[in-house]
Amino acid sequence: MSAGGDAYYNGSAEVGSKILSDRQLLREQLTPNARGLIVAMVGLPARGKSFISRKVERFLKWGGNRTQTFNVGKYRRDAVDPERSGKSDFFDNSNSDSVAQRMQMAMAALADAIKFLDEGGKFAIFDATNSTVARRQMITEKVTAGGQYSILWVEAVCDEREVVLFNMLTKVRYSPDFQHMTEEQAMQDLKQRIANYEKIYETVQDSEGAFIKLFNLSSKVMANHCYGRVAKSILPFLMAIHIGSRPIWLTRAGAGSPESKGQHGSDRASSLSQEGQDFAKRLAKFVKTRAQRYWERSGKPQEETQVFTSTMPRAVSSARCTAALIDQRSALNPIDKGVLGAGWWDVECAEDVPPWKEMDKRHPEFMKQFQQDPLYCQFPGGERYMDVVMRLESVLIDVEMCTSPVLIVSHITTLQVLLAYFKGIPVEEAWKLSLPKNMVVEVSPTEGGGFLSEEHDLCLSIDVGGNEPALDSAMEASF
Ligand code: SIN
Repeated sequence: MSAGGDAYYNGSAEVGSKILSDRQLLREQLTPNARGLIVAMVGLPARGKSFISRKVERFLKWGGNRTQTFNVGKYRRDAVDPERSGKSDFFDNSNSDSVAQRMQMAMAALADAIKFLDEGGKFAIFDATNSTVARRQMITEKVTAGGQYSILWVEAVCDEREVVLFNMLTKVRYSPDFQHMTEEQAMQDLKQRIANYEKIYETVQDSEGAFIKLFNLSSKVMANHCYGRVAKSILPFLMAIHIGSRPIWLTRAGAGSPESKGQHGSDRASSLSQEGQDFAKRLAKFVKTRAQRYWERSGKPQEETQVFTSTMPRAVSSARCTAALIDQRSALNPIDKGVLGAGWWDVECAEDVPPWKEMDKRHPEFMKQFQQDPLYCQFPGGERYMDVVMRLESVLIDVEMCTSPVLIVSHITTLQVLLAYFKGIPVEEAWKLSLPKNMVVEVSPTEGGGFLSEEHDLCLSIDVGGNEPALDSAMEASF
């Protein structure tokens, strides 16, 4: 026992490495990233499975991964007219014909999901109820048969009446299954469909491998055997998403003053010019008015707008009067152009898109390479657009998590990447997106898991769609 104390605190590699629990062994087998992953939903109807699927698809695609959703309901409707297959008796487990048909559609969708991975896809989202252990076992066997792919179960568990009711209303309003019924008939029929599934439903068990259970759309989460990419990205994203609505405003930092560029002639430390200060005042007024309007309409007590800026003084000053607290993130700083931008494109760019034309004149060889692979082409000594995506992931998860209005003040290249997410534009095309100075893009979540976007030009008189409050004198005085 003489060396006990030291060994206890400093550790002994020899002892620890030999004691491997079953769980540790399983973990070591599961940790290497599989070539492809099936994210398979589990849950009764109207538990938000399709909402979660759409959100996850957008998020994974934005991360540069080939991702596709396979919705079994769509396969059913394509095969059997929704006027018949959308009715609750089609989901009656004692109706052997429809049970066989539903099984056939589910297997067709699964086969397509696996084919998608065979053809180079990275993530296939299998959007179905997958409500029994036996069904899930069969799916797991099919997915893992070749030893190349793994499966993650994402179970949506909802027992809060309001959340279920919200999901039911969204479903009857938008699903083609209910288009031929009145809202009242549709709600009644959907209740019966849910009752049919409840008779056979079994929650995911610990023995079923990797899973994430989301209770009432993220108020509580349980995760098992989640490693690698799933633990690092998918789990935090699933914990962040919710069905609440709030506006998210994205805008570029106000113009800097050339005199404040300092000895290096770089805009990194510059402060706002007169034009930039005027923009900041208009932005404060815009945010104040729109936030007020949002809170009045929501009927909830007003809370502070969540403000995220880059760490550039111009960006921070642009947002200074919009909230008491500003969350400065270096992840929102512009892409690092390495040696290529020095002296002419350090940070600020006046045009609506990055100065690609000028880049082409100065560095035509680089521009040629960049256009061939804009996501992975690296600015020599600097970053790739993909690096910007990776560093913005945590900001995006924070923004998804916010339940009150959000303002993001950043720069053209980073905003292009964020806009690709909100607008559902392939991230490889982000570099082309235009965002003029003095423009605010307002994005609002939709019930289906997407976003609507609207542009507000703050150069013009601020049309904020409500009564404009005046900036208070303390605000005015701070510029
Ligand atoms: C559906 O047909 O709408 C879903 C089928 C299922 O996954 O049970």
